[in-house]
Amino acid sequence: MSFRPHIVSQSALSPAARERFAKIVGEKYALTGEAMQPFLREPRDLYEGRAALVLKPGTTAEVSQILRLAQETKTPVVPQGGNTGLVGGQISFDGSAVVVSLVRMNKIREVSAEGNYMVCEAGVVLQNAQEEALRHDRLFPLSLGAEGTCTIGGNLGSNAGGTGALAYGVARDLVLGLEVVLADGRIWHGLRKLKKDNTGYDLRHIFIGSEGTLGVITAAVLKLFPAPRAVEAAFVGLKSPKDALSLLNLLQSRAGSALTSFELIARMAMEFNFLHLPGARDPLGAPHRWYALVELTSPVESGLRETLESALEEAAEKNMVEDAALAANEAQRAAFWKLRTGITETQRPEGGSIKHDVSVPVASVPAFLEEADAAVIKLIPGARPVPFGHMGDGNIHYNVSQPAGADRAAFLARWDEVNALVHGIVAKFGGSISAEHGIGVMKRDLLPEVKDPVELDMMRALKRTFDPNNILNPGKVL
Ligand code: FAD
Ligand code: LAC
Ligand code: ZN
Repeated sequence: MSFRPHIVSQSALSPAARERFAKIVGEKYALTGEAMQPFLREPRDLYEGRAALVLKPGTTAEVSQILRLAQETKTPVVPQGGNTGLVGGQISFDGSAVVVSLVRMNKIREVSAEGNYMVCEAGVVLQNAQEEALRHDRLFPLSLGAEGTCTIGGNLGSNAGGTGALAYGVARDLVLGLEVVLADGRIWHGLRKLKKDNTGYDLRHIFIGSEGTLGVITAAVLKLFPAPRAVEAAFVGLKSPKDALSLLNLLQSRAGSALTSFELIARMAMEFNFLHLPGARDPLGAPHRWYALVELTSPVESGLRETLESALEEAAEKNMVEDAALAANEAQRAAFWKLRTGITETQRPEGGSIKHDVSVPVASVPAFLEEADAAVIKLIPGARPVPFGHMGDGNIHYNVSQPAGADRAAFLARWDEVNALVHGIVAKFGGSISAEHGIGVMKRDLLPEVKDPVELDMMRALKRTFDPNNILNPGKVL
């Protein structure tokens, strides 16, 4: 994979500026040298960053002061949450930049069960937000593999999707209001709790998904939903993605909005799981070419299991499914999910993996997969496609593992070539080259190839308006 880290300024941060930045948060929370390392590398070690300083502010006022000083000194600022992003957006590549880690801003300021909202600071870990909601008998439905580490600020910065998007929408659909520090240090106090508010442009959505390039989100009003009273999951063996699509449609018509997840898994991913995931076992008696992990959730205890069972029976009668196992208890349901969320990890021991996070219209997923598999295998004989993902959203993580025993570096050297091939097929179906992970640096240079030039112009105009001196996460997205 190639990208040019965009170096804004080669000049080092002056000792005087460094001291002024440190003073805002206190020496204890201004990190330099080795202490910065965890903030400069990401989980997969794809990127190695550089920075002058890592600051860990504790309040919105401190973030505001940091931005004000950054504006004055023209210092690049890289906002960071849990550092789990997959496109390098949270990594600083500029030795004169300041990483602003929001992890200390981890207060849940308010929860209103009656009002169905909670106010979280940016550094609240997603799982803590979920758990706090449950303590109030409410559900915060954003859910993803990194939820034990990623933060609300990062979820909103990247507009994360995850496994509940089918029923509840992506991160931006879960936000009522925002508090944002602008590039010049001003604070937008937008923590509104209104479902309806048509008083002009909806600026929330400018910041959500902007990957830290337009402002630093410091807090958000998040929507809550009734807590689940019943959850039923099934692991389903299938012949083909086409059958998976039929099953998805059948479940939607039988269960309606109770269908909260529909995840697709290729056999190859299951084989990697069996090899590399401790304790993994096949929920089904015989191998299948494809699998779906489906989940139904309901706020009322009312025959959800029967709904799932009878829908799966109907699907079997119609030859849509080959076999299915219903989770008998919580432990089994968790084991099903481990087979899905573990895939990124279990791919690792199999060598290099060239990744794609693409979406196509849901009904085009089967044709996309068929074409992509054929094209990739033709380009690199022996390459092992490991597609999996949020089929209900048309979002496939089209990962390709190297041929068994091949040279890892030689395979990864073909990253751009494989991307071009797969993204070309995505384009044919009117799809997106980044369904949920964002653009960051990984896909920045691809964006001009896939975005409408008028749309890119509007994006650049927004960037100039919100960040005229290009200090906010420079070189990311655009
Ligand atoms: P970071 O990685 O720190 O930052 C992400 C981006 O947001 C960066 O551009 C950063 O500059 C910006 N940012 C961070 N904080 C702020 C802020 N306060 N204000 C403005 N900008 C900010 N993503 C999905 O969408 N769906 C998934 O299913 C999914 N599964 C994942 C599973 C694993 C195991 C891993 C490692 C990642 C997964 N991701 C997934 C990637 C995903 O984007 C992140 O996990 C998460 O949303 C990022 O949160 P974070 O706090 O780690 O943000
Ligand atoms: C997942 C990440 C890769 O869905 O988005 O597992
Ligand atoms: Zn995903």
